[in-house]
Amino acid sequence: MSEWIDQLQKIKEEISPDKVIIKVPNHFIFKNHGVHDFDPIFRFFDWSIRDQQVTIDFTECVTANYQALSLVVLYCWKLRGQGCRISFELSDDERGASEIWRRMGAQGLFHVSTDEKTNFRYNQFKPLLAVRNSADFKRVISTAEEYTKDFNVEYKNTLRHILSELIYNAQEHGLSHFYYRNERKVVPSLVQFTWYQKRNEIHFIIADIGVGIKEHLSNTYPGIESDSEAIRMAIKPQVSGTFNLSDPYQSKNNAGVGLYISTSIAKRLKADMHIVSGNGLLHLSPRDVTTKELETNWPGTIVLVAVKLEAGVDFAFHSMMQEFREAAMKELEDSSKREKNEKYHLSIENYFGPYAEDKQAAIKVRDERVLKHIADGKTIIVDFNHVETAPHSFLSALLATPVKRLGMLAYKKIKIINASPEIRETVDYIFDENTE
Ligand SMILES: Nc1ncnc2c1ncn2[C@@H]1O[C@H](COP(=O)(O)OP(=O)(O)OP(=O)(O)O)[C@@H](O)[C@H]1O
Ligand SMILES: [Mg+2]
Repeated sequence: MSEWIDQLQKIKEEISPDKVIIKVPNHFIFKNHGVHDFDPIFRFFDWSIRDQQVTIDFTECVTANYQALSLVVLYCWKLRGQGCRISFELSDDERGASEIWRRMGAQGLFHVSTDEKTNFRYNQFKPLLAVRNSADFKRVISTAEEYTKDFNVEYKNTLRHILSELIYNAQEHGLSHFYYRNERKVVPSLVQFTWYQKRNEIHFIIADIGVGIKEHLSNTYPGIESDSEAIRMAIKPQVSGTFNLSDPYQSKNNAGVGLYISTSIAKRLKADMHIVSGNGLLHLSPRDVTTKELETNWPGTIVLVAVKLEAGVDFAFHSMMQEFREAAMKELEDSSKREKNEKYHLSIENYFGPYAEDKQAAIKVRDERVLKHIADGKTIIVDFNHVETAPHSFLSALLATPVKRLGMLAYKKIKIINASPEIRETVDYIFDENTE
């Protein structure tokens, strides 16, 4: 394992200040000793490179996996958006990364990203598809249908449903842009699926390089602490980052159930599903759901699904969907309302404007709102979005007493978000002063 990491570190060999060779390592797969391990793959991606000539060298990679390599396409799009010029070094080997790259038709990646009507020319068994519009969406669905034509129809509908929800999410919440000849263009999201015939498993990946789940969900629920917490929230019913947005999707009225239903189906199919966003990872297996923080970061969202196609599996798609919808409604009644009620969101800008200096007003808000909500056991989210300044005397008037009352618990119960470094530093000082 450490050998691997060493190897990965050596690969980023700079040969001149504006020329970089990035070697795809010997093994470029998600699994390590039978367990998914994303860090070794993510370490390969150096997102900081800008305005350089980059060569991606595949020649030393003997073991690669389709889904992992498809991420290299997104990486190249990102670097190109950062002003890099990219070329590829491929070997003639009929195995390894070079061959997989060819089979997916990935060489055409720049043409695909700049021409909306073009997609990858993949080998028919290894579909790689860029999605940026409804024609692409339909194409993914019809390709998936072709692919699953021998499967039981209920299976087909079920897989189709998961795939659609995940693609909708990438398109609705995970978009990013780049400039090409002064024109702003959408970076497509990617879908790749592979059927592992011997194991009778279908694997697919849906990936984007958008804002990620935490940032998107924070539109509705400010104060989410980590990427993994955000993913855990996102799979709950009726949780959506669109609820507070005044953007075109608001009228579409997302219900916030796409991921809830997809993960419920995945569980029913005994599938293995990984959701990665930022440095959060959620793993859903037939047994349980676990989350963890990765060492490295994916700037966007990836969903990886592996389903074993079991003969004789008996379920009916429509009744299953009905069941999940009912369960979602019920769960909402019990939990999601409660969750909202457990937090009190205090927007400093709304109460005090961008120059938060009025100490008397701070004392009033403290006594009438903050202390009252603390007494009710709520978590207070103090949001400094768009606030330019907030001097110590103001912050102290607002926060010192609440912090004192809570003691060390204040660190858990009072969350500061969107604060500039200066404001953050002053707040930290007030916390320290009042918890000694
Ligand atoms: N690819 C993604 N990029 C960024 N955020 C995402 C992505 N996928 C999901 N999310 C976040 O997770 C939330 C929940 O997703 P989910 O699919 O359950 O609901 P929705 O898309 O908002 O509504 P619906 O699917 O019912 O139309 C989204 O609203 C968004 O905040
Ligand atoms: Mg959705």
